[in-house]
Amino acid sequence: MTISVSSLSKHFQVHKKEPGFSGSVKSLFIRKYETVRAINDVSFNINEGELVGFIGPNGAGKTTTLKCLSGLLFPTSGEVFVLGFVPYNRNPEFLKKIAFVMGQKNQLWWDLPAMDSLLLNKEIYDISSERFNEVLDDLSRILNVKELLKVQVKKLSLGQRMKMELIASLVHTPKVLFLDEPTIGLDVLMQRNLREFIKEYNIRYKATIILTSHYMGDVEELCKRVIIINFGRIIFDGLLSSLVEKYSPYKKIRAVLTQYADPKKIDRLGRVSRFEYPELILEVPNKKANLIAVSILKNFQVEDITIEGPQIEDVIAKVYRENKR
Ligand SMILES: Nc1ncnc2c1ncn2[C@@H]1O[C@H](COP(=O)(O)OP(=O)(O)OP(=O)(O)O)[C@@H](O)[C@H]1O
Ligand SMILES: [Mg+2]
Repeated sequence: MTISVSSLSKHFQVHKKEPGFSGSVKSLFIRKYETVRAINDVSFNINEGELVGFIGPNGAGKTTTLKCLSGLLFPTSGEVFVLGFVPYNRNPEFLKKIAFVMGQKNQLWWDLPAMDSLLLNKEIYDISSERFNEVLDDLSRILNVKELLKVQVKKLSLGQRMKMELIASLVHTPKVLFLDEPTIGLDVLMQRNLREFIKEYNIRYKATIILTSHYMGDVEELCKRVIIINFGRIIFDGLLSSLVEKYSPYKKIRAVLTQYADPKKIDRLGRVSRFEYPELILEVPNKKANLIAVSILKNFQVEDITIEGPQIEDVIAKVYRENKR
């Protein structure tokens, strides 16, 4: 087991000030605190090489969880083990094996070329020159940024900078990656680029990866398994496909007919959500979609037919809605 989390909670005490000047004065003498339960009794295990999507609405507790896993935060209660280490001890051996990448934060020096920051990381992580060159070569080739390594970071585009950030976080080839919204703010092409890279890194280095993202495309393309957190509690942990199955067991078949058909015959196919000649839209169980499509092709005059799976976005929105506090 690469990551094991049991009954993890993280609560913050936040100072609550009453509004206005008198509130400020009062708060000098009487401090009122409020407890924010960012994560509550969270448990899950992740095996080596898994690439897990960790999703939930804003403020759900994703970043807080990742911070506990990487040792940036001390848990209020519960136990966390990553690669056999207790993260908040910040053991140097542990730090060499993990990376925490945040989409909105940067570690690179703005006025220097990325290469300078990379060389610093080489020293920090004590990487041999041979290994460093090999990995850098590999990563910059996959990300297609070889010729940008010597360009001042502030002159790079957001996407280019994000790629450099990734390289900086990965030159020590960590075995466990915590990726917190790595594709935030990037255009569609760059998002796809980065996904390819994450996939490749996962396979090449047998890395265990937890990824948070608000872009369902990231999750859909990269993660077989998803963990959904809401109000600091896990509300789903399992295969993305079974989530879709559970919350949206239907597919849509859309057909364009070339000859008018008897509505009674069409009714027998499945639930008709629309039939206005020449367009026919049916809602059918996921598993029967192919068979029904075939039978439409066989029994009717059809110009065009498509099967639409449920939109992951819709499924997730439904899960969030059904799990309101
Ligand atoms: N240092 C802190 N002090 C007080 N409250 C905090 C602190 N960090 C996080 N919180 C609170 O904990 C809750 C969870 O925050 P967290 O950043 O983990 O959410 P998230 O799931 O990452 O959300 P987002 O999708 O917006 O990034 C929020 O209510 C947040 O305000
Ligand atoms: Mg966050």
